[in-house]
Amino acid sequence: MINLPRNKLVFLVQNHIEIMMVAVFSLGVMLIVQKALRRFTSEKSVIPGHLGLPLLGETFSFLSATDSTKGCYDFVRLRRLWHGKWFKTRIFGKVHVFVPTTDGAKTIFANDLVLFNKGYVKSMADVVGKKSLLSVPQESHKRIRRLLSDPFSMNSLSKFVMEFDNMLYQRLNKLEEGGKSFVVFDFCMKIAFDAICNMLISVTEAPLLQEIERDCTYVSNAMLSFPLMIPGTRYYKGIKARKRLMETFGEMISSRRSGKEYSDDFLQSMLQRDSYPPSEKLEDSEIMDNLLTLIIAGQTTTAAAMMWSVKFLDENKEVQDRLREEQLSIIRNKAEGASLTLEDLNSMCYGLKVVKETLRMSNVLLWFPRVALNDCRIDGFEIKKGWHLNIDATYIHFDHSLYKDPTRFNPSRFDEVPKPYSFMPFGSGPRTCLGINMAKMTMLVFLSRLTSGFKWRVDDRDPCLEKKAHIPRLRSGCPITLRTLKKRDII
Ligand code: HEM
Repeated sequence: MINLPRNKLVFLVQNHIEIMMVAVFSLGVMLIVQKALRRFTSEKSVIPGHLGLPLLGETFSFLSATDSTKGCYDFVRLRRLWHGKWFKTRIFGKVHVFVPTTDGAKTIFANDLVLFNKGYVKSMADVVGKKSLLSVPQESHKRIRRLLSDPFSMNSLSKFVMEFDNMLYQRLNKLEEGGKSFVVFDFCMKIAFDAICNMLISVTEAPLLQEIERDCTYVSNAMLSFPLMIPGTRYYKGIKARKRLMETFGEMISSRRSGKEYSDDFLQSMLQRDSYPPSEKLEDSEIMDNLLTLIIAGQTTTAAAMMWSVKFLDENKEVQDRLREEQLSIIRNKAEGASLTLEDLNSMCYGLKVVKETLRMSNVLLWFPRVALNDCRIDGFEIKKGWHLNIDATYIHFDHSLYKDPTRFNPSRFDEVPKPYSFMPFGSGPRTCLGINMAKMTMLVFLSRLTSGFKWRVDDRDPCLEKKAHIPRLRSGCPITLRTLKKRDII
């Protein structure tokens, strides 16, 4: 029995309709709020996006973006407009998430090779080799990388700097004397290739260089191809080219071991470890697969970055003038004809900022692909085991909250140290680019010789990108004509 005083009972009976209405209304509001809260919390953890059909997904849209002059990043850009900053898609049957935040990048890089790894791509492992840093299982990655690293340290590269500088100086002067327009990308591809081969295996004869370059191009084209040995296909050509390259590298190793040949280079430094215990030396197959990997990983990346620097400097004359001023002050202090040294490069403060800004804006590697080895959460989002996570360096490099006026080419923004994981053209963590020092030095020498020796005219300003190029570059390759710097050019 409800034991209420008479006056309260009368109040209840008289107002029961209003009380019921208030109770029902409160219950309704409570239910709506609860539902909304549940929806909000669960939806926050679900990444939006369109997965499409199980196998196809959005593969055709991706391929069509790759095959356009806007480049494959246009696929990513459009999906961000539709779904927001975080989105997922399905390409070639696999779910891909594009990770757009510094926190997300940090989570993945800090747990690389443990909770995340590079996905296994059969065609890539077949052509660059199973012992390549790009395809080796995580257990061996650390050891192989440690043993490859020494020749790429700052100090070991001083010989590389001088030799690359001499090569570049001669070739640029020859081009200027010829007075003809030339394609910067093609020029940079050739010189980057020649310089890497010289540093790794001391090959300088033109016919052998041409042979190796042709075969490396076949291998490179076959890295992401359908792995079926059908004559005429990219995969078939890549496998055949790999066989020829392995024979060439094998012969080089034999003649070094027999004492018939000796050169002070990367290969020699690997062979000097022959008498070391197994954990301190590389097997021949590890050396050969990684020789091929280094050539392929270093050539197009460096060439594309150099090409973009020419375009950006052409469009930003005040940056070009300031860079020239710095470079002339360094060159003027050197003896006539003397090569640039490590010390010179270390004094190129503004030059280094130009290199960094070029790499920020050109995004030579658009994103860094990994696979989740377990279910996990990144930035509060649910990630399933087996999903492909692409650390979207391009988005991060143009993020307004990290960079003021991000589309402006402004090297001075690097007066300040960038926030962690906001600038990562060479990746981060255990897979950081092995050639990071070499790449920066190559770019610095290039910028130094170009701006201190010449002015140039860009002969085709077409902004379209080369189709099907996974490393973005201009379709025109940026043709220019050089003119020797005259006294009147110097401010
Ligand atoms: C501007 C030029 C270059 C850029 C922007 C660049 C960028 C990168 C990036 C972002 C990665 C890491 C990819 C990932 O985490 O998935 C990488 C890896 C690598 N790079 Fe570079 N790279 C350049 C030049 C070079 C050069 C000159 C070499 C050597 C000759 C080289 C050799 C390598 C190798 C071997 C790896 C694989 C490292 C590993 O998995 O442990 N790169 N590069």
